[in-house]
Amino acid sequence: MSTPSILILPGDGIGPEIMAEVMKVINWYDDKIGLKFDVSHDVVGGAAYDKYGAPLADETLAKAQEVDAVLLGAVGGPKYDNLDFSIKPERGLLRLRKEMDLYSNLRPAQCFDALADFSSLKRDVVAGLDIMIVRELTSGIYFGEPRGVFKEGNERVGINTQRYTESEVARVARSAFELARKRGNKVCSMEKANVMESGILWRDVVTEIHAAEYSDVELSHMYADAGAMQLCRWPKQFDVIVTDNLFGDLLSDAAAMLTGSLGMLPSASLGAPMENGRPKALYEPVHGSAPDIAGQGKANPIACILSFAMALRYSFDQIEEADRLEKAVEKVLADGVRTADLLGEEGVTPVTTSEMGDKIVEALTASM
Ligand code: IPM
Ligand code: MG
Repeated sequence: MSTPSILILPGDGIGPEIMAEVMKVINWYDDKIGLKFDVSHDVVGGAAYDKYGAPLADETLAKAQEVDAVLLGAVGGPKYDNLDFSIKPERGLLRLRKEMDLYSNLRPAQCFDALADFSSLKRDVVAGLDIMIVRELTSGIYFGEPRGVFKEGNERVGINTQRYTESEVARVARSAFELARKRGNKVCSMEKANVMESGILWRDVVTEIHAAEYSDVELSHMYADAGAMQLCRWPKQFDVIVTDNLFGDLLSDAAAMLTGSLGMLPSASLGAPMENGRPKALYEPVHGSAPDIAGQGKANPIACILSFAMALRYSFDQIEEADRLEKAVEKVLADGVRTADLLGEEGVTPVTTSEMGDKIVEALTASM
């Protein structure tokens, strides 16, 4: 097979500095393991607006469609707040997701033991937590038509439309069931079938796919509001949660915070398999571009580095190397190394973004 290709899109704010740490890890795999990647770089979000006048240039999209995996930092920042909605940095990310048809967004919420006390919940509620939210990413209210702000008589009306086809629900449900089989074999599907017709369809389709293809997996259903409550009450009851685009956006932020820091969580956005059998894929941290701390060496690169670990796992079939990288992160945290977002313990001085990257690379070397 040819050398796997990666397109790096650092984006805005802390994006470039956390991506520099991912590059250290990529170079380590090349030097020490002989695992080579064909890496190219481009821009997205505000950085792309500055360079190309649009948050995602057509040529960048074309490159993204060709590579085996896209690694993205984060997009957005106050500098771009006054841009027209259609060219805001976030539109670049949404266009990438939509055009690459990355319908299955995997958002793990894992609690590292060393960080269990950082959670706003009690240690025993979160210690050992390992759940996976599968968020539908290319449809629903994020993309449904009609949408817009219209004039109706003498006032304005803002409209967005929740719309799901059967096949859109079916494919993300399959993706959740497949994952569950490799984990705790349980799926909880969340919608609001009590108030939304799209929720009724969602529940029906998930139930049908389950009965026809995945009856070995345990399936339950919850209204998304009750699901949010259960996530805070006793998150360990869940294994895989599958839900729509908007509920998934909210539930994954809540789940992320259970683990103590948003700076820790990676994500994978996967589409249908390409000709070489690999899924179309984009990997990015769940956190945003944090413009308030950009350029100060305060950012935590772990979510971005763990996103690369997900790429090793889901795009490159390097399961052992993904485990190695995740364990290296765990080791560094267990050793008490903390970036500025993880303070609060007595007598701990924070390391910089770059020092955290170095420590993780050292732990990789120690694992050989
Ligand atoms: C996320 C973000 C995005 C979303 C924004 C940046 C468009 O919140 O990935 O969760 O709403 O999907
Ligand atoms: Mg979000």
